[in-house]
Amino acid sequence: MSFFSYREGELHAEDVPVRAICDAHGTPAYIYSRAALENAYLEYERALEGCEHLVCYAVKANSNLAVLDVLARLGAGFDIVSGGELERVLQAGGDPAKIVFSGVSKTAAEMARALEAGIHCFNVESAAELEALNSVANAVGRPAPVSVRVNPDVDAKTHPYISTGLRENKFGVTMEEALRVYQRAAELEHVEIIGLDCHIGSQLTDISPYLDTLQRLLELIDTLAKAGITIRHLDLGGGLGVRYRDEEPPSIASFIAAIREQLGQRELTLMFEPGRSIAANAGILATRVEYLKPTAEHNFALVDAGMNDMIRPALYQAWLDIQPVSQAGSGQRAQWDIVGPVCETGDFLGKGRDLSLNQGDLLAMFGAGAYGFVMSSNYNTRGRAAELLVDGEQVHVARERESFTDMIRGEQRLPGS
Ligand code: LLP
Repeated sequence: MSFFSYREGELHAEDVPVRAICDAHGTPAYIYSRAALENAYLEYERALEGCEHLVCYAVKANSNLAVLDVLARLGAGFDIVSGGELERVLQAGGDPAKIVFSGVSKTAAEMARALEAGIHCFNVESAAELEALNSVANAVGRPAPVSVRVNPDVDAKTHPYISTGLRENKFGVTMEEALRVYQRAAELEHVEIIGLDCHIGSQLTDISPYLDTLQRLLELIDTLAKAGITIRHLDLGGGLGVRYRDEEPPSIASFIAAIREQLGQRELTLMFEPGRSIAANAGILATRVEYLKPTAEHNFALVDAGMNDMIRPALYQAWLDIQPVSQAGSGQRAQWDIVGPVCETGDFLGKGRDLSLNQGDLLAMFGAGAYGFVMSSNYNTRGRAAELLVDGEQVHVARERESFTDMIRGEQRLPGS
């Protein structure tokens, strides 16, 4: 079900014409659908009914306060990877007792703040981090609930930059090391073992790497039990893929059903950390064609969104669908390279797209709700795009477009100038 659809040839975000949003708020603009976010989150909830569970939305995918607020109101948990993400969740009304803290390099200050906030669990990624957490917990005077992130050494068959579960990756501890780390955790006075965690990669379109992982983790849980260590929750991370082009990822429901089937009657709380599968298709990036520049080699459509706004095509060669906001295009039909204003050859949103374009046309890039705005920057001193959240017929300004003053806040010329 899409919450972005064409009605009489005009793209709508829920019940609002995208053109009207762009006219009122300018471009480039990220436009999110509240219903789409809710729908995806609730698909996880429905699929997990009847089983102890916690769905922790991976904040990194889209951390706008309004987006977090939508999910917090549904009772979602949150997976964070920094002190900044922790503060965002707290500001958005998220329940600290449903937060898990992932990440390979948590600082002592971040750990202390998370302990004080009363988070659910630290996903510990190394033996050294475990020692540091124990000391911080001692200093704060609160035991730290932990799970160890293991790296199950499975090939997630995804882009190498977003595959995280192989031995060669920096994440987690190896299966062989896991027992030792848990035994050490059991000895430490200020940590309390509550779970086992993993995350094998992102944009997975096949269930089999998850099932292989689950098998290995269940064996590890048995080994730990023999050593007198009880695991109460199993966190399988995020990573379920979405359809950008012709990928055929399993639905959330069938993904969860397959996991539940393999889990059988085990008394374990199941946890997930989905980001992309909740946010990607809940957002578009709207951009305007500034100029058309047909050349002998390429037809360039120069648009007002660049790699600083959406870096996924430049960074991962990601393909995201780009369509006109108004279908009644009277423009020049050609294979267009949709390129941005940034002074880099790698600054493109899409190449060789068959579109009819006129100068001034509005385009929508689909699947932009996850890892879009959050990865944007001020490169070339370009203010970051506005973010709008649509709810039925309402448009909420989730983040104002960044001004020049916003961009130079904190910068100073030399004294005496
Ligand atoms: N949990 C952990 C520990 C993670 O590292 C990640 C993503 C997630 C959960 C959420 O994964 P998801 O459900 O969104 O696949 N910037 C890249 C994606 C990087 C993902 C990093 N970790 C992209 O644009 O494709």
